[in-house]
Amino acid sequence: MSFQPPKGVDDIHLPESGIWRRVLTAWEEWSERFGYPLIITPIFESTELFERGVGDTTDVVTKQMYTFEDKGGRSITLRPEGTAGVVRAFLDSGAQGAWKAAYSGPMFRYERPQKGRNRQFYQVGVEYLDVEAPMADIEVIELGYRYIEDVGVEELELRINSLGDATCRPVYLENLRQFFKDIEEDLCDDSVALIDRNPLRILDCKVCADVVGDAPSMTDFLCNECQAHYDAVKRGLDTVGIPFIEDKKLVRGLDYYTRTAFEYIGIGLDAAQNAVGGGGRYDGLAESIGGRRAPGVGFALGIDRIVLALGEQPGEPELDIYVVSETTPADALPLVSALRRGGLAVDFDASGRSVKAQFKSAAKSGAPTTVILHGQGQDVSVRIEDDRHEIPLQEVVNWLISHK
Ligand code: HAM
Repeated sequence: MSFQPPKGVDDIHLPESGIWRRVLTAWEEWSERFGYPLIITPIFESTELFERGVGDTTDVVTKQMYTFEDKGGRSITLRPEGTAGVVRAFLDSGAQGAWKAAYSGPMFRYERPQKGRNRQFYQVGVEYLDVEAPMADIEVIELGYRYIEDVGVEELELRINSLGDATCRPVYLENLRQFFKDIEEDLCDDSVALIDRNPLRILDCKVCADVVGDAPSMTDFLCNECQAHYDAVKRGLDTVGIPFIEDKKLVRGLDYYTRTAFEYIGIGLDAAQNAVGGGGRYDGLAESIGGRRAPGVGFALGIDRIVLALGEQPGEPELDIYVVSETTPADALPLVSALRRGGLAVDFDASGRSVKAQFKSAAKSGAPTTVILHGQGQDVSVRIEDDRHEIPLQEVVNWLISHK
């Protein structure tokens, strides 16, 4: 009997995993550069956290959660996204005032699997809490943009919108409801069912795209505060030189958003899965999960989709040196260990295969340098591309480190 992974989940190995490693390493660098410390939250949380946080009319909560009862009779859900858990952890910590966190890890949604849409997928993201000022939105949006651009996604487009707040959104929603009621016979069944419950989601419906074109836009209903916030975000993006497109139909699939909403689009990807990331402001989320008022803004990026957008890439060699031993692996071990402690990425053949087989592995590894150990206590040959150097064994570690 043999096993495959369950439907909608993948193994990731070479050569693709080489790109994953590069992209995840770049994430550590960029999130640190913008001052976001790492947070690690549980992969599963109580189901109620997502029902109350993400919203119980969203597809994510009503259709896509992996929910089960644990042996203690508690309802548990594998996290479908990271924000609700991070905000819970923030409230739990008792922190006051500006608070930042960066996270990465697998998320789980029971979706119809297709290219770029998996049931287990990997997100990196940040949350910036307890700051209401638009400066936080600008910083967050810039971080995501710079990172995606730096890892090499071409044809990147930033789309932004404002979803208003508790003052102006209800007025807009009433107008939107009336608009949809008037054209109800032209809408699909799913959209009709959403008119009373969550009319914003209809703007996102692919089937009804043609008939929702004339629907009123939130940005025409913004109250003064929301308008000022939105204008400040756009000015800030101009200041840091981030191009954006205002997309009045951008609503996002999670219920917690207020004011700023945005998506990073990889134009080269299939349209249904071309959002490589998205985020926005969620000033009411902390209260909706039982905490104090704590405004926040953040994003999450889909690493599976970013890697897809990068396409096939020549793998960069991960090794600096491959050590070939003309005698036994045991003779090579002290040298290999010393080089690794010296900070070099080194591999060798542990199984005692022939010298010829070891040279083949050296070539396959892509390591630019091969070190040939002739025997315990003897000089070693160092081959860097076509150059060959004979070096005394006791000097070779320093020699290689200085020639890296
Ligand atoms: P989201 O838009 O649901 O937002 O997901 C963010 C990104 O995760 C998407 O743009 C996409 O790249 C990726 N993604 C989502 N679902 C899948 C899937 N089934 N397969 C592959 N990739 C997927 C959030 O999750 C929010 N928590 C973002 C946020 C953070 N908002 C504020 N702070």
